[in-house]
Amino acid sequence: MPSIVVLVSGSGSNLQAIITAIVKQQLACEISLVIADRECLALTRAETAGIATCLLERKHYGANLSQQLAAIIPEETTLIVLAGFLSILSADFCCRWQNKIINLHPSLLPLHGGAGMWGMKVHQAVVNSGESESGCTVHYVDGGIDSGSIIAQRRLKLNAGETPQSLQERVSELEHPLLIEVIEQLITGTITNWNSY
Ligand code: GRF
Repeated sequence: MPSIVVLVSGSGSNLQAIITAIVKQQLACEISLVIADRECLALTRAETAGIATCLLERKHYGANLSQQLAAIIPEETTLIVLAGFLSILSADFCCRWQNKIINLHPSLLPLHGGAGMWGMKVHQAVVNSGESESGCTVHYVDGGIDSGSIIAQRRLKLNAGETPQSLQERVSELEHPLLIEVIEQLITGTITNWNSY
């Protein structure tokens, strides 16, 4: 059975989508461990689902966080999923798990990514830009910030009067099925180049 590790820092709605997909047998894998870099609702969601958790407090570990992660992530892990994880992983860690770490970002990368671009800042930047569309991206994680190869995107048209808050809600609805779809394709080895629509 493929085994995934999920890294979280926030509300955990994407983690919840993965848990639900496993329960509904839409995803044939197990979550062996959920790791957080701060106290967050996502940890509670994992505990409620009976999943093993670990808190590696970023304020305590600082630049050594990746070393701690490397020490506790099981060798046999099929995929590491960053689902709203806000710490930056070291180049060594990314190299060890090359093509086995994916991240979800709430914009159409390469637009609106990079240092400091997370949460509402991303949606505010999209609205400020006057662009007519946005969406979300799943990409491999390399040593940079939001710079790894894009695996899949989903897009939406901005509505008249769209606000950062409304955009966040609409993008979030796209993120959950996209993430499940990509995980399914990666753990079954059926990923193709269909992935931008
Ligand atoms: C998502 O918008 C994701 O794109 C970004 O962080 C957010 C996590 O949301 N990387 P949640 O914690 O899964 O609700």
